[in-house]
Amino acid sequence: MPTALITGATAGIGAAFARRLAADGFDLVLLARDTARLEAAAADLGGRYRVRVETLTADLSTDAGIDAAAARAAAGVDLVVNNAGFANKGTFLNVPVTDEQTMLKVHCEAVLRITSAALPGMLERGRGGVINVASVAAFLARGTYGASKAWVVAFSRGVAQDIAAQGAKNVRVMAVCPGFVHTEFHDRAGMKMDGMPEFMWIPQDLVVDEALRDLRHGVTVSVPSARYKALVALARMVPPSLLERTSSRAGRNYD
Ligand SMILES: NC(=O)c1ccc[n+]([C@@H]2O[C@H](COP(=O)([O-])OP(=O)(O)OC[C@H]3O[C@@H](n4cnc5c(N)ncnc54)[C@H](OP(=O)(O)O)[C@@H]3O)[C@@H](O)[C@H]2O)c1
Repeated sequence: MPTALITGATAGIGAAFARRLAADGFDLVLLARDTARLEAAAADLGGRYRVRVETLTADLSTDAGIDAAAARAAAGVDLVVNNAGFANKGTFLNVPVTDEQTMLKVHCEAVLRITSAALPGMLERGRGGVINVASVAAFLARGTYGASKAWVVAFSRGVAQDIAAQGAKNVRVMAVCPGFVHTEFHDRAGMKMDGMPEFMWIPQDLVVDEALRDLRHGVTVSVPSARYKALVALARMVPPSLLERTSSRAGRNYD
């Protein structure tokens, strides 16, 4: 059975990847910080889908957590979903710079290290995939969050080309860029989302379905849903100053 390592697997988009991959017959390695939630998820998925589920308690904002995740990735996995992430409670200068550094550690350094650890084994076996969960914020003006997700997109595109140049046709690296998805993300960041129209929200399972389909098709940057594909296309056409002013405000009100 193939094995998938999913970071941030206990809630939201990561949990949706875990359910779908278990249903597809993947054994799982679930990573997050909360051991009790990891064990509950492992018992549930293992029982429901009859797959082997390992848990890895690790905080990807620490060197030790990243080391543990990278070691598990290097030990051999067929698919990695670098999904763990969060938003800070405020705009730039309204949160401590140490929180911004923590974000770069989780969103960038952990993704770099886990991808670097997983790919050599995949290249040796001639198959495998890395899905890095970015955001449509990568194409907008959204503080350190958007900047870190822009790095995830650029990193994934660059690595995909570098491994393709080595002739590794069946090893794929892709960034997935969801729009707004109902998860624990906004509550954790104290974001007030009441005013966000319903059509701006996309289902967790749609993100997972489209990401897995795009990975199979060799896409390097996946933007789930027609409405967000249109929004990203529009963002490329409007004057940068207008895009920056409008996109930096939407959905960024805090408790
Ligand atoms: N929701 C959206 O609208 C949206 C849109 C675009 C992109 N995204 C991206 O999608 C990804 C998943 O977000 P989500 O919305 O599903 O969030 P979520 O519901 O808050 O889930 C976050 C998951 O990440 C884990 N996590 C958080 N910090 C961690 C750390 N330092 N080390 C290890 N695990 C950590 C959490 O578990 P523990 O707390 O137990 O560690 C949880 O399993 C993120 O990268 C986010 O930026 C979300």
